[in-house]
This record gives sequence, C-alpha cells and structure tokens, in this order.
Amino acid sequence: MIYILDTADLAAIKHCNEFYPLAGVTTNPSIIAKAKTDFWKLVKDIRAIIGEDKMLHVQTTQTEAEKIVEEAKLLKKELGGEFYVKIPIGEEGLKATMMLKELGIGVTMTAIFTPAQALMSAMAGASFVAPYVNRLDNILGDGCEVVAEIVSQLENYGSDCKVLAASFKNAEQVHKCASYGCHSVTVTDDIMKTLISHPMTDAAIAGFEKDWKGVYGDKTILDF
Ligand code: G3P
Repeated sequence: MIYILDTADLAAIKHCNEFYPLAGVTTNPSIIAKAKTDFWKLVKDIRAIIGEDKMLHVQTTQTEAEKIVEEAKLLKKELGGEFYVKIPIGEEGLKATMMLKELGIGVTMTAIFTPAQALMSAMAGASFVAPYVNRLDNILGDGCEVVAEIVSQLENYGSDCKVLAASFKNAEQVHKCASYGCHSVTVTDDIMKTLISHPMTDAAIAGFEKDWKGVYGDKTILDF
C-alpha cells in the first residue's frame, strides 16, 4: 500500500513525514485555497519537507489541453522531483494526458467516479487514477466497490496505472480499499493516526509498562 497525505497543512505534513511510511502529498484547488496563502510558497514548502524523492501531486487550474500542458510543465520545472499533475477527467484532460505522456510528466487523473472513466484515463497514459470513495458513499453509491472494480479492470488489461483512492472520511473505507487490492490511498493525518490506533494496543502497552516498573522502577534497558 502506498500511503499519501491529502493536505496542504505543513505541520501535518511534517508530522506524517517523520512518523509514517509516507510516499508523498496530494493537493487540489480546494485544499490549496483552504490555506489562504501564496501558492508557490506553499507548494515549494511542501516539496522542501518531503524532499525530491517523494511524490507531490498538484492539480491544474486550466481546462483546455494545451494550457493544462503549459501549467504542468511550469509546475514540474518549479517543483522538480517526483511530480504528478492532477487533471480532472474529461476530453481536454485525456488529450492533455496523452500529450504529457510524450513529455514524460506523470498524470493523476482525478474526480473519478466510475470504472469507465478510470479505464479510459489509464489507456490515455495516466500514472494514477483517483476515485472519490466518500463522495460516492454520500450519494448511496459504494465507493470501495467502485475502487475494487477499477483495480480488477486495470489488472485485466495489464495496465500499469495505479489506483489512488481518495476522499475518505473514515479508516474503515481505507481498510476495505486495501482488502480489495487498491494500490494507494490519499488520506488526512487524522485517518493516518486512526489506522494505527486500537484501545487494546493502548491497554497492552500500559500493561507492559506497569509490569516492568513494578520490578525495575524507572530503569530502562539502556540503564543496565
Ligand atoms: O483530493 C481529492 C479528494 O481527496 C477530495 O476529498 O474529502 O473533498 O471528498 P473530499
């Protein structure tokens, strides 16, 4: 599983980059706008925290293929490293994806809600497709089932495009996607924490500490 953080909150990125096996950061225009700060400073600060080797996905603000390509080239030049331009699925987005494939710039096709959209994106050359799990669940769809179907269709066609499931509201959705073989997820720092938490784990750790201290007090192994 490839874990990515879906935020532009620098403190959350710093934290998760230090404590989790983080593969990168995704943003979108809503996430960037929430930070209400200078765009270039923000995305360059994110790059500085995660380094050149981790993925940074930034979404285009353009709607026409040639302009999307122009913006992607600028983003790649300014942000360097492992960079992916996020493009919402549509005809212009597919055309841009095919052009960017030629230029060697990775594309994450986003705002995916159906396996048909995902398959077409993969065939155009997208490196990732990002289905929105919780937004489907919100309208009585089954986001995880859609993810499962996309995973299976990409496998059937021998595509190397990866599923980057997005829009999660809880850890159960992430767990389900993982059990369906989803390649990667992008989540908030809160969900990242929930994924490793369990009250029985807390109880087990408290028990180890109590038993040790009962015999050795505050000494640790380093003190022997
Ligand atoms: O970046 C795309 C996706 O993560 C959006 O999530 O929470 O706005 O549905 P959300």
